[in-house]
Amino acid sequence: MKKTIVLYRSRTGFSKCYAEWIAEDLACECRSIKGVKLDDLKDFGLVIYGAGVYAGMIAGLGKIKNWIGKSPEKTWVVFATGATPPKEGYEELIFKTNFRKGESRPAHFYYFLSGINYERMGFFNRILMKFLSGLASKKNGIPQPAKPTSIDLANRDYIAELLSYVRLKAR
Ligand SMILES: Cc1cc2nc3c(=O)[nH]c(=O)nc-3n(C[C@H](O)[C@H](O)[C@H](O)COP(=O)(O)O)c2cc1C
Repeated sequence: MKKTIVLYRSRTGFSKCYAEWIAEDLACECRSIKGVKLDDLKDFGLVIYGAGVYAGMIAGLGKIKNWIGKSPEKTWVVFATGATPPKEGYEELIFKTNFRKGESRPAHFYYFLSGINYERMGFFNRILMKFLSGLASKKNGIPQPAKPTSIDLANRDYIAELLSYVRLKAR
């Protein structure tokens, strides 16, 4: 059995929540990637990394791509969380944008719908979101709400496919 760990990078808590659900169901370790070095992962044969999508880019992915290149013998699984519904090829778009041809790729990639948490967002991101939603309102002719509201669409059911894949690969 390959020893499994779930690592996450999370600004507003969505990826941390998914990471904790995954680790709970797999009964494995779960921790923030902050301060973790590749050397710390030598006992693990299967590594799952999850983070949020910001302006189309998965947070902290550079470190993971570097590690995949250095440790191809491990099974690497990456998941991203985002507020865009995963229809009309969004998952594929995120994969293609974040893993260019010739770059190290994980064995499997998943995209989970999450939401937006304005309360936990940093000052800079809040201003940026206000600006973007202002642009969208102008374009669509829909008035911008006075106070943006958070929305949580994360669902534990979405991790089912990832769990089946990891259970198979960890054997
Ligand atoms: C500045 C900013 C940019 C974002 N860009 C995108 C995006 O391009 N696509 C998307 O689906 N969600 C986007 N989101 C929503 C986040 O991806 C979503 O809330 C994610 O789950 C955050 O993960 P985290 O809380 O674990 O960091 C954005 C959120 C912020 C604050």
